[in-house]
Amino acid sequence: MGKGHMELQVLNGATLCALVKVLGDHAALSYIGPKFYVVPSMAELLALEQRERVPGAPDVEAPISLLPTLGQGWPGHPGLSLHRAGRDWALVFTLEDVRRDGEMLHVSFVDTAARIRVTHHIGFDVGSDVLTAWNSVENLDEGVVDVAACAALTLPVPDYLTHIHHYEGRWALEYQMQCLPRSMAGFVKENRRGRTSHDSFPAVLLEDAQCSEASGDALALHLGWSGNHRISVETLEDGRAYAQLGELLHPGEIRLAKHERYESPKAFVSASDTGRNGLMQRFQSFVRHKLLSPSMRRKPRPVHYNSWEALYFDLSLPALLSLLDEAADVGAERFVLDDGWFKGRRNDRAGLGDWYVDKDIFPDGLMSLFSAIQARGMECGLWVEPEMVNADSDLYRAHSDWVLSGGHAPQIPYRNQFALDMRREDVRAYLFERLDELLSTYPISYLKWDMNRDIFHPGSADGRIVMHDYVKGVYALIDAVRAKHPHVEIEDCSSGGARADYAIVSRTDRIWTSDCNDAMDRLSIQKGFMRFFPAEIMGSHIGPAECHITKRRLPMETRAAVAFFGHMGMEVDLRQESAAEKAVLKQAIALHKQYRAFIHDAVAYRLDTTDVLDAFMLCATDGTEALISCAQLETQRTNLAGRLRLLGLDARARYRVSAIWPQSVRFAREASGEALMRMGFELPRLTPQSVIIFHAERVLDV
Ligand code: DGJ
Repeated sequence: MGKGHMELQVLNGATLCALVKVLGDHAALSYIGPKFYVVPSMAELLALEQRERVPGAPDVEAPISLLPTLGQGWPGHPGLSLHRAGRDWALVFTLEDVRRDGEMLHVSFVDTAARIRVTHHIGFDVGSDVLTAWNSVENLDEGVVDVAACAALTLPVPDYLTHIHHYEGRWALEYQMQCLPRSMAGFVKENRRGRTSHDSFPAVLLEDAQCSEASGDALALHLGWSGNHRISVETLEDGRAYAQLGELLHPGEIRLAKHERYESPKAFVSASDTGRNGLMQRFQSFVRHKLLSPSMRRKPRPVHYNSWEALYFDLSLPALLSLLDEAADVGAERFVLDDGWFKGRRNDRAGLGDWYVDKDIFPDGLMSLFSAIQARGMECGLWVEPEMVNADSDLYRAHSDWVLSGGHAPQIPYRNQFALDMRREDVRAYLFERLDELLSTYPISYLKWDMNRDIFHPGSADGRIVMHDYVKGVYALIDAVRAKHPHVEIEDCSSGGARADYAIVSRTDRIWTSDCNDAMDRLSIQKGFMRFFPAEIMGSHIGPAECHITKRRLPMETRAAVAFFGHMGMEVDLRQESAAEKAVLKQAIALHKQYRAFIHDAVAYRLDTTDVLDAFMLCATDGTEALISCAQLETQRTNLAGRLRLLGLDARARYRVSAIWPQSVRFAREASGEALMRMGFELPRLTPQSVIIFHAERVLDV
């Protein structure tokens, strides 16, 4: 496999394919998109890619390889950047091995002078059309290799994808999307917060200028990593553009001794020529069929009652029991005891780390509450935040060296808590023993696993920076708990949705999307979330009439309609809700139970509407039925909102579309799928901050 080697590897999904050029000195992804009738040959590909030599440019352009390096003359951000005591930084590779394992391709290259091996791994999940790619780098010799960057993937961005749709946000307003034109100024999103963070969910969409929900070309990339990351999209001086994503490494974080390897997190990629909907559907299908455990796929997701917003730290058995009665009465199926149940935890200044039941609140342990929950036929859930410790805790008093720090740099206060060094086996052993004991003693079928601070100083007691190992340690602990207690579901939470990605989702069952239960803000949060995650893992709770965070007041009909489309729950002091509101809540929960199997299996489509509406559909794959949500965000400037054109129906079938929520609304139309999709139907008058849910049911074929 010398320098002159050339082969084209075709990776196939169901409807997409990727073309990977494997040459003697590098490999590159030349194409990802719809399958070809006739796949171009290597000679055709090279001819199409051939570019003219221009003045003021290198004689040979550096390729946009899967892992570009300085040694290749790459002018952009290096995919791979490393050195051995200040040397061996200019890497040039020779092909070593090409191996296929079904749809996965593994290609390795060696730099014999620098004694470095890199391996690319890339391939489709055929069912969902999502491509997974990652890289590994190995030190083949004596002398420590310091790795500054090893991206999961670098790929060329086609000229026609001119716009970057990226994520931003903050606490209680995650998954907000913004659009920028692609340019030489470059788009770079770097996250150094030690979790995926509220402001930079690790994903980006690249779109053509006209791309909408329902039409246009688009490409999306996501990094499956729960720590620091870097995502960039840059147009080069020579006109080519590339995108790159990988873990963001701190100085000295990855130091490889002889034969040690660093493996990058996985990048997930898909393409669509049917707008953003095509991407959303592929990613949702990937999570459903590849990441979620099959047993969870089969089990109906129980409606939650969570104690947090009703009681915060003011827990008492009588208060919990009265909320339990109220929750059972409206139809809750699982009661989750949130923060505040463990030793010394009366506020957020103390107790984290001491995972023993607080005897002042629960003198007989948690069994009195859990028995009462079970007596009502409900499941028991418990909140924990294993990775954290308060200075005011027995754990910290005994093991102050267990926390991450910046050495002589003072700790940065963050909710009064420190992060434990999850790289340490003794730390993980302590946490495993505590969690195991709780799960073995009590009938807990659900853990809400929280993580409530950014990690700015990920330093171990030995002075090493260990952010990468921290994340691996978290994964190891979750995996160990799951292995011992496979029937316990785990919710991934991080001050709301600040740690969400495909690596954490592959070992958990639900994501707490946001601390914001304001249904209007939730619409945009859930819209951004659902581009990569399906409805059934989207924790979505009905909050109080006046949202605790935004102070917005919303009727129960609206609050319930928004929570209806996720994994539904409540986080509200039901003792404060009126009888009328509780009656509406009860109806909404009953309706959700009627449709949840459908909601948690259907294909999602967002509908293109004016800015004052938010509309989406969930459709049965066989076209038999659909649910349509249409929210009026603000006052309509015209008398009526106009027509809503549907998607995803069987054009040749006839449908009856009727309003099913709020139950007071009377609305029904009948038309063919074709007419509903081409012409749409006139929406009834909606008031601001209201949501209407329609059900479309196939009545007979046209
Ligand atoms: C942050 C979570 O997002 C909330 O839902 C709640 O569990 C609190 N932590 C408890 O401290």
